[in-house]
Amino acid sequence: MQLLIINGPNLNLLGKREPDIYGNQSFETYVESLKITFPDLSIDYFQSNHEGSIIDKLHKSGFSVNGIILNGGAYTHTSIAIADAIAAIDAPVVEVHISNVYARESFRHHSCFAKNCIGSITGFGLEGYTMAIRYFVKMKK
Ligand code: DQA
Repeated sequence: MQLLIINGPNLNLLGKREPDIYGNQSFETYVESLKITFPDLSIDYFQSNHEGSIIDKLHKSGFSVNGIILNGGAYTHTSIAIADAIAAIDAPVVEVHISNVYARESFRHHSCFAKNCIGSITGFGLEGYTMAIRYFVKMKK
């Protein structure tokens, strides 16, 4: 099974960025641990700070992979264009947020993506990505 993780803006700074909110671990290290935990899966990782690049990646991979795990960062709350790209592709998308967006500022409570996603996982730290992968593995069986 082929899965793709897409992280949006500022998530390249995980491990350095506001560690009280987002933790101390870099995402590169975390992806390596995911590959060890799920040796039978092909897990691809893409990060971009640019809205159009995220859309291009959704278009490029969204008709071939089995599932996409998307943390759109702040674009979650603003980007109708990414929401439209999620609706346009075949691959099911699970929305993940590291922090509990509902315990934060009200502008983080709205997701443009949620209605086009299978579901949303928020507030479980990096574990949320693992939960999303487990969902895809279970649904495939
Ligand atoms: C985030 C939550 C967003 O509100 C924020 O803009 C981020 C990260 C999260 O993973 O908790 O960049 O998506």
